[in-house]
Amino acid sequence: MKIAIIGTGYVGLTTAVVFAYLNHDVAAVDKDERKLNLLHEGRSPIHEPGIQSLLEEVQHAIRFTPSVTEVVPEAELILIAVGTPPKKNGEADTQHVVQAAKEVAQVCLPDRHYTLVVKSTVPIGTNQRVVEVVEEVFSERGIQGNISIASNPEFLQEGLALQGAFYPDRIVVGANSDKAIDTLRRLYKPILEQTFDPPSEFPRPASYHLPPMMTTDPNSAEMIKYAANTFLALKISFINEIAGLCEKAEADVTEVARGIGLDARIGNRFLQAGLGWGGSCYPKDTAALLRVAAQSGYEMPITEAARTVNFRQRKRVVEKLHSTLGTLKGKTIGILGLAFKPNTDDIREAPALDIVRELIAAGATVQAHDPIAIANARLALNENAETDNDKLFFTEDVYELSYDADALVLVTEWELYHKLELRRLAKQMKTPILIDGRNVFSPEEARAAGFHYIGVGRP
Ligand SMILES: NC(=O)c1ccc[n+]([C@@H]2O[C@H](COP(=O)([O-])OP(=O)(O)OC[C@H]3O[C@@H](n4cnc5c(N)ncnc54)[C@H](O)[C@@H]3O)[C@@H](O)[C@H]2O)c1
Repeated sequence: MKIAIIGTGYVGLTTAVVFAYLNHDVAAVDKDERKLNLLHEGRSPIHEPGIQSLLEEVQHAIRFTPSVTEVVPEAELILIAVGTPPKKNGEADTQHVVQAAKEVAQVCLPDRHYTLVVKSTVPIGTNQRVVEVVEEVFSERGIQGNISIASNPEFLQEGLALQGAFYPDRIVVGANSDKAIDTLRRLYKPILEQTFDPPSEFPRPASYHLPPMMTTDPNSAEMIKYAANTFLALKISFINEIAGLCEKAEADVTEVARGIGLDARIGNRFLQAGLGWGGSCYPKDTAALLRVAAQSGYEMPITEAARTVNFRQRKRVVEKLHSTLGTLKGKTIGILGLAFKPNTDDIREAPALDIVRELIAAGATVQAHDPIAIANARLALNENAETDNDKLFFTEDVYELSYDADALVLVTEWELYHKLELRRLAKQMKTPILIDGRNVFSPEEARAAGFHYIGVGRP
């Protein structure tokens, strides 16, 4: 199938590479010249496990271009995967989605049928808005147009994007048109039936079952995406709330999570206490859902509380440092991990950014390490005038962090941190204090290595 994808970010590029691998004829459009230049050189602009090699493998089946006009007229299916960043009031900004839909409608040929699919995460009712925008453009052009519009929310997890795309739990399609549903069923056929030969880096899991394609109305599809992310966000916030009480009650949250996670109704995933969630989805999508609710005059106290608990986790680390060190003025703190989670270079809404800002505001000097997200974090922290750059240093050598440091804070649970030589780190520090923000280390081992160890929700 000839498909055009608008937007080559985390979602658009992953989708493009996977559909090209599945033998679809893919054209991907982006306005960002820097990304296009890299893609033309065959280099991925995002860090995502496996994406670079798969991009090289499918290069013959994808082209990248800044021009909608060049690719949309010939396409059968167009996927919109542009960003929907938060506005100041939390609402999701759909201007890029609307703009992309307009650009598509401007170049559709009057005598061909198209299926236009919104993959971006959008407020409930956006699909209908896209229908109206497209009709407006057709009427300005004085043409009838023949286009079916659908929603196909994306459930990608950064760091596991390709695995999730080849072996999804489900495909959700919201559409009022049978034609659109039929086109999407053909698009996803190799995934729904698992008829493709798995890429060597992504073998099919032995326990994997064929995924259902659920079809529903567009509003419900849009709501499914927000409800799914909010549920996952609140599951993490719930265990973080329990972790706070464990600290007071001298219980161990890792044991509590194990005990409740064994209940099949609860399940053990998303029950790791820590510094909470960040990234480009949960903070933005929970805020956007609250805006949708507010606009309908409806309160959502559970969603509000999930956010409050989440952002409190970031402050609690700084409080723990305060109470252990007395003051943060003049102290040097090493930060292990800047990306919002392992295996990505995405630092959008990353807990580390808030923690670094708070530490510097409290008078500390920060030395930070991350295996791949330093460049992005440097940009995010330096462009922010509130950060005093004389107090912030980045290092690519993880052991350098501990030289004369007063404390270390593990913020992102990168695999390489699991294997750190704790004794070596502790020896180099002024005061060997380790705040393990993700409960990565065994408290006994950390203490045996000479650390004063403080985890999350552990006695
Ligand atoms: N990143 C994730 O983990 C994830 C997961 C699920 C859903 N989503 C949703 O998917 C959408 C995209 O997310 P992302 O993380 O890929 O965003 P991103 O910011 O990484 O990428 C968006 C891309 O769209 C391009 N773009 C914007 N307007 C354009 C236009 N008119 N024409 C061509 N290109 C245009 C931008 O230049 C950018 O490269 C968002 O709505 C997001 O909420 C993201």
